Amino acid sequence: METTFKKLIKEKIPERIIITGCGTSWHAGLIGKYIIEDILKIPVEVEYASELRYRKPVLNKKTILIAISQSGETADTIGVIRELKGKCKIYSICNVEKSTIARESDFVLFTQAGPEIGVASTKSFTSQILILYLFSLSFLFKKGELKKEIFYKRCYEVLKVKEKMESFFQKNNIEEIADILINKTNALYLGKGINFPVALEGALKLKEVSYIHAEGYPSAEMKHGPIALIDENMPVIFICMEDRHLKKVISNMEEVKTRKGYIISICDFISDEIKRLSNKILSVPHIENEYLKPLLSSLPLQLLAYYVAKKKGLDVDKPRNLAKSVTVE
Ligand code: AGP
Repeated sequence: METTFKKLIKEKIPERIIITGCGTSWHAGLIGKYIIEDILKIPVEVEYASELRYRKPVLNKKTILIAISQSGETADTIGVIRELKGKCKIYSICNVEKSTIARESDFVLFTQAGPEIGVASTKSFTSQILILYLFSLSFLFKKGELKKEIFYKRCYEVLKVKEKMESFFQKNNIEEIADILINKTNALYLGKGINFPVALEGALKLKEVSYIHAEGYPSAEMKHGPIALIDENMPVIFICMEDRHLKKVISNMEEVKTRKGYIISICDFISDEIKRLSNKILSVPHIENEYLKPLLSSLPLQLLAYYVAKKKGLDVDKPRNLAKSVTVE
């Protein structure tokens, strides 16, 4: 990993980035947009591979494409790479070393998450986020805007996340919350800022493995439509982390509470307000660095989907109609 990042800082700093992927990898790309634009101040667009491959994006040599894929074999993502090859530099973030995407890219950042057996993407999602964060730090360092000591400090924080994740696995109340969801037919996942794609990913996990219809939305966007769905039968899962958006998210929780929605809060900070508004709280370890928060907030969402599926007697590793890599269009 260290050598890859040493190689990376020899690369030219791009002026514009297009990230592409499908499903969970696309969600990681959305998180990457927040991180890269915030840290590097480089404009980032995130595109579904299945759409981008049939468009004619405006490119130049200062644009790079970052294709994200766990399997490295997703047909649509490969389609984009083949379409854009030679028109801009192709980077990929990939988990499988001997894969088509890794082979056909100009520069590969391997997630090294280990083989993913279950169809639902889990550990590769968190690894993709981590790589996008390290990508941003590496280029910031190259730009001369990050001192070596701070770079090491940031890397040390990343190592700390592992301990926090382990502590979460040892003690949590997810099974109790899964019991609430098993008889539901719908769920709404809401988050703001970097937590919006986390909400999208939480909803995808629930749909995929437990067959409950779930939607992810930016929390403030709820009032432009989904609010009509809210009543006492609608579980609303708020990703409510201690960050610059907390106050706004709490006001969205108030709106749901007024309509008698059942609020499940995933938070790393519990205030009296959060206690008053939430029917259930799922607390995750706190980390100061907001770019690393999705690594912790996505864990309970993955586990929640897992327990709901298990309690419904479903095969968590092999959900119906899905394949581990989608090699057809
Ligand atoms: C994730 O749980 C899904 N199984 C699916 O959305 C997946 O992320 C998508 O098909 C992309 O796969 P890839 O990362 O292997 O390219």
